[in-house]
Amino acid sequence: MQAGKVYLVGAGPGAPDLLTVRGLRVLRRADVLVYDRLVDRRLLDEAPRRALRIFAGKMSGHHSREQEEINALLIDQARRGRRVVRLKGGDPFVFGRGAEEALALARAGIAVEVVPGVSAAVAVPASAGIPLTHRGLSSAFAVVTGHEDAGKAGPRVDWARLATAVDTLVVLMAAGNLPRIIHQLLTHGRSPETPIALIRCGTTRDEETVTGTLGDILERAGGLRPPVTAVIGDVVTLRDSLGHSGQGLAGDDMLRSGRRAGRGVYDRVQRRAAWGRGPATTSPSSISGRSTWR
Ligand SMILES: C[S@@+](CC[C@H](N)C(=O)[O-])C[C@H]1O[C@@H](n2cnc3c(N)ncnc32)[C@H](O)[C@@H]1O
Repeated sequence: MQAGKVYLVGAGPGAPDLLTVRGLRVLRRADVLVYDRLVDRRLLDEAPRRALRIFAGKMSGHHSREQEEINALLIDQARRGRRVVRLKGGDPFVFGRGAEEALALARAGIAVEVVPGVSAAVAVPASAGIPLTHRGLSSAFAVVTGHEDAGKAGPRVDWARLATAVDTLVVLMAAGNLPRIIHQLLTHGRSPETPIALIRCGTTRDEETVTGTLGDILERAGGLRPPVTAVIGDVVTLRDSLGHSGQGLAGDDMLRSGRRAGRGVYDRVQRRAAWGRGPATTSPSSISGRSTWR
């Protein structure tokens, strides 16, 4: 039997209609769909009815044994001659362990194709009205993980060098370690007046943004639960004067999923564009405090 192929597909940052056109095309031809926890379930309806759907979210913790189970599953399904879509949140190669899966597949002699996704690292700040670069405010940004295993081998985030090296810092997996991250930044020279935004469930209807400074964000944030992206730097202040670009396309009527041709997410996006009904705009909210843009 001829081996199948595995497609590592980025599902985008949250709103299902931020999947790429190529990603959707591949998804609609899947025999097997292996998906992660942060993938919007409405995307599952875009796969053919006959496709096998396997949730890998529980397995995809930080334990290498669990990752090995996912690798083995992908290899096994491909060896059965199937077209396997591995659907991962955001972009598969940004803190998604996508490269580990691609390497395991390549070692097993399985064909792999990567379909890039819209990463939360850039899309979530944009959805909250925060540009990562802006003339006069920021000419560089870095994306780092806020979550590192204590016993992790290999390179670690070098907070000492990073704290003042770039204008804008984007921290993924920021929720659990926020006090430690802020302590590191302040210890290594970033001002307590530096603006910060914490964005939860960005690009979705549940998007919630808390803003403040490195000095006071811990009091403001309360217990924001994941998924949270942190943006640190002066660009956060632009949120005050920029309109909302957010969740118009994630509205209820758009995303009630249909499985027949012409009724999927992508088709509804196209229909809405044709009708000239773009995303709604709202007035920007205050730089300080908690607000939810809908
Ligand atoms: C394991 S990383 C995977 C990142 C993903 N590969 C990407 O490119 O977006 C998961 C982290 O991404 C961020 N994230 C993903 N979706 C998000 C969302 N809708 N809103 C805010 N942060 C999000 C959070 O920091 C979350 O902890």
